[in-house]
Amino acid sequence: MRVLSVIGARPQFVKAALLSAELAQRGIDEILVHTGQHYDREMSDVFFEELRLPVPAHYLNVGSGGHGMQTGEMLKRLEPVVQREEPDWVLVYGDTNSTLAGALVAAKLHVPVAHVEAGLRSFNRAMPEEINRVVADHVADLLLVPNENAAKQLAQEGVTRGVRVVGDLMVDLAMQAAAQIPARPPVLDRFGVKPREYYVATIHRASNTDDRPTFRRLLEGLRAADRPVVFPVHPRTREIASQEGAGDGDNLMLCEPLPYAQMLALLSQSAALFTDSGGLQKEAFVLKVPCVTLREETEWIETLEDGWNVLAGSDAAKIAAASRRPVPMRQGTPYGDGHAARNIVEALQERTASYAA
Ligand code: UD1
Repeated sequence: MRVLSVIGARPQFVKAALLSAELAQRGIDEILVHTGQHYDREMSDVFFEELRLPVPAHYLNVGSGGHGMQTGEMLKRLEPVVQREEPDWVLVYGDTNSTLAGALVAAKLHVPVAHVEAGLRSFNRAMPEEINRVVADHVADLLLVPNENAAKQLAQEGVTRGVRVVGDLMVDLAMQAAAQIPARPPVLDRFGVKPREYYVATIHRASNTDDRPTFRRLLEGLRAADRPVVFPVHPRTREIASQEGAGDGDNLMLCEPLPYAQMLALLSQSAALFTDSGGLQKEAFVLKVPCVTLREETEWIETLEDGWNVLAGSDAAKIAAASRRPVPMRQGTPYGDGHAARNIVEALQERTASYAA
């Protein structure tokens, strides 16, 4: 079995870590393709080194651009690679433009598509990610969903064939990494903060960074928080954060995007997280850190159930208040059995065998 995996954006490097290792361990051929959607050292290379990902066999060097241009370049550059490599599967992760491009190229070449993190919905079609997810799911042959909720959602859309509940690669990695976090992580000293006496924030969604009044309301909420806020800044957010004076004489401590283990360590000791990232909502959940989501909706609805996560949108008063809520008492286990990588490989193998039969 030959699996061609398409990755390109930071969260996909994290998701690929355990699965690439599992494929390698079982002697299954993986052809790793990096689209180049993320290319800054701290958004890409650092993760390959830290998570010990194999060097990609193909680097498409697509870079940034509008959605049409970026996705179009990916389609153009990926098609000949898939034709040449003749994989049994093209595997895509999540909901980025790299996901969309990988799924479309494969489907058009009649190569089976496996979609990791299938079945998630925000029900907000204004999000580019929502379009990417829906399209990827509807051209995929194997829909690798984290839990029954995602499977039910697909069933509501008439998709029942090839759906497999496998758990969540990002949650599994976070659980493994959490066990390695030192009692007093050095990253706290860098920011001069003490355990539970600071917050962490990240903002990178287009709806939050590309609309100035929205971004201002988010800053207002963070500035009204009762503790210092460590704020690793995504490249997309750099310009507006600087124009709005974030970190100038306020409680915000801006820094570059942090490597995986440092980010997790910083998060683990924080009093709460403010974020519009999907992955970080789950990582906070795993680390039992209360999360305030800076969006009106979330795909990760299970994190809301016991109050670990609350939706604050861009309402400044809600944001500040939400960080002060009591830590919830209960927590379920909605993201699988800790063996998503194994479950995914087995699903691929079974499906490949059924094609051959
Ligand atoms: C992308 C995904 C988003 C995911 C996020 C994770 C899409 C539509 N969005 O958003 O779902 O949550 O990745 O980080 O695919 N830039 C750099 N250096 C880089 C990469 C980007 O400076 O290495 C800057 C560029 O100005 C670029 C902007 O960030 O225009 C946005 O990058 P892009 O890849 O279009 O989307 P993200 O916002 O990163």
